[in-house]
Amino acid sequence: MPKLLAGVIGAGSIGDVHLTGYAAAKRDVAIHAICDINPRRLAEMGRKYGVPAARLYTDFKVMLQKEKLDVISVCTPNAFHFPAAAEALNHGAHTLIEKPMTLTLAEGRKLKALAAKSKAKTMVAFSHRFIGMNMAAKKLIGRGTIGKPFMIRVRYAHGGPYPGWAQGDWFYRKKLAGGGALLDMGIHAIDICQYLVGPVKNVSAIVRTLRKKIEVDDNAVLALDFSPAKCLGYIECGWTSGPGFGGIEIYGDRGSIVLELTGEPRIMRGVNRPDGSREILVEKIEVPAGPSHWPLQMESWVRHILGKKTVTGIPGIDEGLSSLAVALAAVESSKTGKQISVKI
Ligand SMILES: NC(=O)c1ccc[n+]([C@@H]2O[C@H](COP(=O)([O-])OP(=O)(O)OC[C@H]3O[C@@H](n4cnc5c(N)ncnc54)[C@H](O)[C@@H]3O)[C@@H](O)[C@H]2O)c1
Repeated sequence: MPKLLAGVIGAGSIGDVHLTGYAAAKRDVAIHAICDINPRRLAEMGRKYGVPAARLYTDFKVMLQKEKLDVISVCTPNAFHFPAAAEALNHGAHTLIEKPMTLTLAEGRKLKALAAKSKAKTMVAFSHRFIGMNMAAKKLIGRGTIGKPFMIRVRYAHGGPYPGWAQGDWFYRKKLAGGGALLDMGIHAIDICQYLVGPVKNVSAIVRTLRKKIEVDDNAVLALDFSPAKCLGYIECGWTSGPGFGGIEIYGDRGSIVLELTGEPRIMRGVNRPDGSREILVEKIEVPAGPSHWPLQMESWVRHILGKKTVTGIPGIDEGLSSLAVALAAVESSKTGKQISVKI
């Protein structure tokens, strides 16, 4: 079978991760073309992945007109996800879109319609679904190990994507990013909540710029109400955090699951009495050895295109749309001071 010809739009830090994933799948995929508006970065990535100058582009429309690509990754700043993914789907390419999928629900719905019209497969890069302990937790919850979850808490926070990660400060600019920590870290947290518990029905939130001198939010707190699951949840996300708790806790009727980013994933059972006395049983969660989340996400994407079984479900346009709807409801709640019901 001929190899799938892949192209990446936006060859920055996460574009490099996607390119590494395609390079690792070299039995099935050939990196054929790369697009980035920064010629220096483009040349660097071309050299790194052996793509000749003739197939390096600064305009994704030109790249898609000139090359017949089977697979596209959209790894640009958020504002370009919609036009680049729409163009890729119009060309019939299997399209992997970075998060947040789009900036508005209207754009998301248009992508959904385009994807339905095309034969192409789609995926939204909710990479946290591919973290071993998160997949293990999903299985444990599915088996009823902790009973039915009634509370989930997610804290995803770091010191901010620039400097240190991104190629430039676009994450902090409203027009390019659409939003701040909420659309960056918060959208991962929203997706993981919906992956582990189910759909969010109502949201109350405070979304603020507390410390950074930027155009978008740097911290947010969300209170979630899930339905049909009888469960509440809360999310803290931010770009001003030093080391501290980072991870997920899920509390069920028969135990809890604690997934700390820096600690051992565990199930906890026992009793916590009002007088402060406790009996606690801790059981380590075994996480199967394997690639880390980004390589596994890319391997799963390629397997999905080839129609092969994947380690966990593939988040698609519906998941991209529903997480965006929760994030946008949080923004509205913060502006109005009201609880907002999520509409997709
Ligand atoms: N899923 C994850 O775990 C994860 C992690 C980090 C970033 N992301 C997402 O990936 C996307 C890119 O983030 P990043 O951290 O790689 O940023 P980055 O700044 O490192 O890279 C963005 C690249 O896109 C290029 N670019 C800008 N406009 C373009 C255009 N119109 N056409 C082509 N290229 C263009 C820039 O020159 C830059 O090289 C964002 O949407 C971000 O939210 C996802």
